Amino acid sequence: MAADALPPFPPGFLWGASTSAHQIEGAVDARGPSVWDVFEARPGVIRDGSTAAVACDSFHRHREDVALLAGLGMNAYRFSVSWPRADSPGGLDHYERLVDDLLAAGVRPVPTLFHWDLPASLDWLDRDTAARFAEYVERVAARLGDRVHTWITLNEPAEHTVLGHALGVHAPGRTLLYDALPVAHHQLLAHGLAVRALRAAGATDVGIAASHSPTWPLTGDEADLAAADHYDVLMNRAFSDPLLLGRYPEGLEQLMPGDVAADLEVVSERLDWYGVNYYAPSLVGAPTGEKSAYGTFDVPAGLPFALHEIEDRPRTAFGWPVVPEGLTQTLTGLRDRYGDRLPPVMITENGCSYPGLDDQERIAYLDSHLRALHRAIEEGVDVRGYFVWSLLDNYEWNEGYRQRFGLVHVDFDSPERTRTPKASYAWLRDALRAQR
Ligand code: FCB
Repeated sequence: MAADALPPFPPGFLWGASTSAHQIEGAVDARGPSVWDVFEARPGVIRDGSTAAVACDSFHRHREDVALLAGLGMNAYRFSVSWPRADSPGGLDHYERLVDDLLAAGVRPVPTLFHWDLPASLDWLDRDTAARFAEYVERVAARLGDRVHTWITLNEPAEHTVLGHALGVHAPGRTLLYDALPVAHHQLLAHGLAVRALRAAGATDVGIAASHSPTWPLTGDEADLAAADHYDVLMNRAFSDPLLLGRYPEGLEQLMPGDVAADLEVVSERLDWYGVNYYAPSLVGAPTGEKSAYGTFDVPAGLPFALHEIEDRPRTAFGWPVVPEGLTQTLTGLRDRYGDRLPPVMITENGCSYPGLDDQERIAYLDSHLRALHRAIEEGVDVRGYFVWSLLDNYEWNEGYRQRFGLVHVDFDSPERTRTPKASYAWLRDALRAQR
């Protein structure tokens, strides 16, 4: 499987893995509650009935995680800082230890400042949450900024808006549909304020991790093309246009709250790099009058589009189609749309859920996506790094522990949360060795 060596990536390329605080840390008692703790306590919302109270116990076992990264030969680690932990006494000590251990192992720390675990007392429908975020970011930067140079403001504001506030399958579990749009705007404003706060603290390498799914129209019919365009605006361009062009796609600006024109100046603060999370394309057609499936959950009828299965492709355990050329297409599409407004790019997440230790499917997935990434570089996209989602099997949000995305297996039944590298771990270690 995947025996041929990968083509050489540019010198200085960052090779890393990604995780997030809520999905791996556990140690819930050592911090204040987040919206996810509150959500998980509601009956029936998490598919396996679990919580992230212990997860991978990385709060106590982060040294094992650092050793696993070093064993892979990675030179970067994307983790997230839990805002409620940073607000709790001694909470930032954890990240200081993690950063020091990473640096000692020769691994660049790449913290994300918000990966969905909002303090339970806050709400993205409130504009003030953006200002509160900037204050929190200032505190983190004051503590870690002498050692951390590469920062990520937000993870996937699109998914947090849509899954958490429009459809209600993620925390905080709201079903506001289009009335969720202020959540998008306030996160984008928070992002811009955070970029300014980080720069003021001396940061020189600031980015964001934005999800991008190339949108494929179901057919060339007018109605399908219009529905696909609408979907592409909602899931992709509603975020990348304000970030990179300083404006919303047509029709959206008037739906956003506050002095939008003034806010967009902040939102479009120059970035040092742009992070792309890529999993799969979306096949979108005109509304059918029926509900449609988005991964493992339903999108209600009555929306101006319907999602369709991409057929004739292998599927991950999550049911997501495996479409490596979608990654090339995403990157060349961003370059074509944004031109020199697009800074250098990093892939901040890419990966797949499969069970088992002998995960040959994950090897094939990573191999094909890295080749697709290389193709984008050959086509002139300036790509500076690639982070696998994920280092460890972890708490996959409303799926609980059912989806295993790790290069490393975690035994969630063992008190030690025993970590066992999978076949893909050895494959990637060897592939990275061959790059040196
Ligand atoms: C992304 C999230 C990440 C993880 C992967 C599978 O949308 O950013 O936390 O859940 O999906």
